[in-house]
Amino acid sequence: MATNITWHAGLTHAERSALARQPGLTIWLTGLSASGKSTIATALEQHLLHNGYTAYRLDGDNIRFGLNKDLGFSPTDRVENIRRIGEVAKLFADSAAIAITSFISPYKADRDLARGLHDKDGLLFVEVHVDVPLDVAEERDPKGLYKKAREGIIKDFTGISESAPYERPENPEVYIDTSKSSVEEGVAKIVDYLVGKGVLT
Ligand code: PPS
Repeated sequence: MATNITWHAGLTHAERSALARQPGLTIWLTGLSASGKSTIATALEQHLLHNGYTAYRLDGDNIRFGLNKDLGFSPTDRVENIRRIGEVAKLFADSAAIAITSFISPYKADRDLARGLHDKDGLLFVEVHVDVPLDVAEERDPKGLYKKAREGIIKDFTGISESAPYERPENPEVYIDTSKSSVEEGVAKIVDYLVGKGVLT
């Protein structure tokens, strides 16, 4: 715990957003492994960039190659993983960028913590539940992880191991069931929500 530190204020978020001509916000995708979070996040990032917005994707797998390479998949490590990403996404949002996060983020309390960080600073936080029935995710199994989890080779696998539950969002701003809709429809749902909020034009 650091002591003797002082907060240095600079431009406000409103000033920064006005200069950047776009609001900063976080679009927080949550869902089971293989639900389609990364695919939708990538397509959404491309859509926003092609339409002149500054957007940046923070992806669960990718971040674990660097910033969070010291973390595994125990409950404690997942809490710390999401705490750090909540903080990083908030910095992106404050900088007037659109942060798109795609992490399983299985615990409601951690997602709420990330939301609270944004709320405290008046930054928009949009929770998107990228849902899929477990059996469909398991059938997709693009990385072969569900198979390994069933064989007991991977412990603590979300949705499979008792030690790794997924707590479904109760009231997400956007709900997408990827077993029933295409990637494009998922992206459109998020974009429509943001247009409705007056965030995108
Ligand atoms: S979490 O729960 O939010 O901390 O997880 P996250 O940082 O999003 O990382 C999930 C990706 O890590 C791979 N992987 C696992 N996922 C779940 N449980 C276990 N035990 C595990 N081990 C490795 C997997 O590729 C996840 O990626 P996605 O894109 O979700 O399939």
